[in-house]
Amino acid sequence: MNQTFRPGAALRGTLVPPPDKSLSHRAALLGAMSSEPVHVTNYLDAADTRSSLDAARALGAVADHRGHELIIRGPGLRSATPDVAIDVGNAGTLLRLLPGWLAGQPDGGRWALDGDESIRRRPVDRIAGPLAQMGAALEAREGRFTPLRITGRPLQGIEYELPVASAQIKSCLLLAGLLAEGTTTVIEPEPSRDHTERLLARAGAGITRADGRVTVTCQDELLLDAIHVPGDPSSAAFHAAAAVLIPRSRIVIAGMAANWTRVGFFRILQRMGAVLVGELEERDTASADSEPLCELDVAHGPIVATRVTAAEVPLAIDELPLVALLGCFAEGETVVEGAGELRLKESDRIATVVDGLAGLGADIEATHDGFAVRGTGGLRGGTLRAHGDHRLAMLGAVAGLASSEGVEVVGMEAAGVSYPGFSADLAELTG
Ligand code: S3P
Repeated sequence: MNQTFRPGAALRGTLVPPPDKSLSHRAALLGAMSSEPVHVTNYLDAADTRSSLDAARALGAVADHRGHELIIRGPGLRSATPDVAIDVGNAGTLLRLLPGWLAGQPDGGRWALDGDESIRRRPVDRIAGPLAQMGAALEAREGRFTPLRITGRPLQGIEYELPVASAQIKSCLLLAGLLAEGTTTVIEPEPSRDHTERLLARAGAGITRADGRVTVTCQDELLLDAIHVPGDPSSAAFHAAAAVLIPRSRIVIAGMAANWTRVGFFRILQRMGAVLVGELEERDTASADSEPLCELDVAHGPIVATRVTAAEVPLAIDELPLVALLGCFAEGETVVEGAGELRLKESDRIATVVDGLAGLGADIEATHDGFAVRGTGGLRGGTLRAHGDHRLAMLGAVAGLASSEGVEVVGMEAAGVSYPGFSADLAELTG
């Protein structure tokens, strides 16, 4: 589906962003792993998180999902239904987290995980390597791609230092650690989103965190009662960027997750000089087991270039395409470095973002681990291909509103992976 986004209208009003995708995936999986039914409020109803619910059901969970309410009663930690094929669709998070649970199933079940064309290009070796060190039986196509075949067997805890900060890999190993003999420690080079850790603490699992080390111990069961999923900062980021770029805009973003490991993009926006008021969580006073909410007020204003360094990348990884777009309008040169991970997302986001924005008139170039963009005060417009990548489709839409000639997005339906109501919310805010 092609959709054209034309310049002109300011954004005004209140945005309630869709429920957080990362937390919804985890709610479905940890719900299925829990001994008692789990009541989830504000579960994301989008293609990616439907894949997680389908997987939970295939593995023995009973899930009653109405609107944004979900009650899930799982098979529990050690009783996943054996011998089923799981289609993860487009969901990289599901692909990386689920093997952690399945690999340690004690009764030798077998599972095969596969997904769409984009999933088939995304490597699983970074989970397969450490899981194999724990004793897991895994087989991947060419050693690193789906289909990924898993046979459940007893695991042993390990200490593992992640080569790059990745919440997906960390979470996979923590889930495996719940089933492994002894303790499992994951060491992160930089902090990444910590929803799994907070949920496990809520579920009463033995989890400790200090100085970049997360340790879990073998558990008999998980006990989670209720989970409220806050609004997704990665989705709200698109409207926030549009509000900053488009004259006369001013919006309120209500009920958004304030977790400090998720709001790196909003910190970058502030540093670029954007007018942004709201209470984001601080690292020093972060909660150990709950997910705080915030209300943000964002308004149009001039912005200046910035440099995003490797340490900040995991805290804003999915929003870096928007930093490239903002860079087109900022005074000076905006540089993102240490973001080689972008090449492994739903598309190669260094290539697709740089080519996409260059095609709209941006002065931007790719580097080996990021990009550099020189602000020219605006963007001409044109056509941008989404390449089946939801965040690229939404980037094209915001670029269109902020451009001088408008942008036709080819493949706008990709937005449905994380934000089915994206265009409708944008239309409402622009009147
Ligand atoms: C996610 C973690 C991130 C992010 C992805 C969701 C998660 O990936 O890009 O969209 O839910 O854990 P990595 O942390 O593996 O880079």
